[in-house]
Amino acid sequence: MKKSISALFIAAALIFSATTVFAASGSSLFSSEGCIACHAVNGQGGSVGPDLSHVGSKRSLSWLKTQITNPDAHFAAETNVFLNGKSYTAIMPSHKHMAAAKLNALAAYLESLK
Ligand code: HEC
Repeated sequence: MKKSISALFIAAALIFSATTVFAASGSSLFSSEGCIACHAVNGQGGSVGPDLSHVGSKRSLSWLKTQITNPDAHFAAETNVFLNGKSYTAIMPSHKHMAAAKLNALAAYLESLK
């Protein structure tokens, strides 16, 4: 009995640290992949593109993956788009060669921003 309870604690601790690491790598990719040059999250980053501090409350995981790999599928290049009450020119570069693991971590990070 005692053994199974401590096993449960260890499992919970592992799951907790795994999710923390996952979220952390998504946020570091946001910087290392250059997103932060154009997008701000919680007051940090550029303003060429829309603020993404709450993007996870309006976009799904699969929508976010498409936006990263093929933004033209959502917003025709060079057109004016209206997002979060502001106007932008659609110039987001596509990251279609991003490795799947990176894409998954980055999209999961964005989806967690509520
Ligand atoms: C050169 C500037 C630039 C870079 C770099 C950039 N974006 Fe964007 N992003 C934009 C602009 C402008 C838009 C508006 C629509 C478009 O261009 O497709 C946008 C739109 C978005 C949206 C949709 C926001 C909404 O409100 O629906 C998401 C999500 C997004 N970008 C994520 C990213 C991620 C993740 C990266 C890094 C891999 C990135 N962007 C890199 C400029 C940029």
